[in-house]
Amino acid sequence: MSDDTSADDTAHELRVSKIRNGTVIDHVRAGQALNVLAILGIDGSQNEEVSVGINVPSDRLARKDIVKVEGRELSQEEVDVLSLIAPDATINIVREYEVTSKHRVERPEEVQDVLHCPNAACITTEDEPVTSRFEVLEDGVRCLYCGTIVRESIADLID
Ligand code: CTP
Ligand code: ZN
Repeated sequence: MSDDTSADDTAHELRVSKIRNGTVIDHVRAGQALNVLAILGIDGSQNEEVSVGINVPSDRLARKDIVKVEGRELSQEEVDVLSLIAPDATINIVREYEVTSKHRVERPEEVQDVLHCPNAACITTEDEPVTSRFEVLEDGVRCLYCGTIVRESIADLID
């Protein structure tokens, strides 16, 4: 798992240094790293140690983004939301520099209370105590209240 022939290393050096303890979100769809940070609530205002690679070469994807967060593991809800914008991502847990667990994100069937419906007439966008619910489709999400389907820019719907 940690051989030196991985795509990250083909340039003979790691583009983003290894972390000691924390989470590496790898194989993020190119261009989505900043949305990953938004989902994780990372805006630079805390003291979190975070490294980001954008458009780095990858074997599995032509280009990928990668986000490494020191000292933090992700909640299932965070992983669920990540899966919507980075469906091929791998979540690697690192302890004392070693990858101790690795799994692909799984797209849930439904997400609740994490996206807002772009339809201004949707009951969920009014001042009602209604929790948003979206069905996760192959290529997008569908509001379970009004049927609006969003395929692009799902990140813009994140609360
Ligand atoms: N990584 C890291 N810090 C560590 C260990 C690993 O930042 N202490 C990063 C690696 O750079 C890589 C990812 O975590 O981007 C997964 O590590 P590893 O499983 O060793 O790499 P690969 O085998 O290339 O992963 P995959 O097969 O998932 O592509
Ligand atoms: Zn709706």
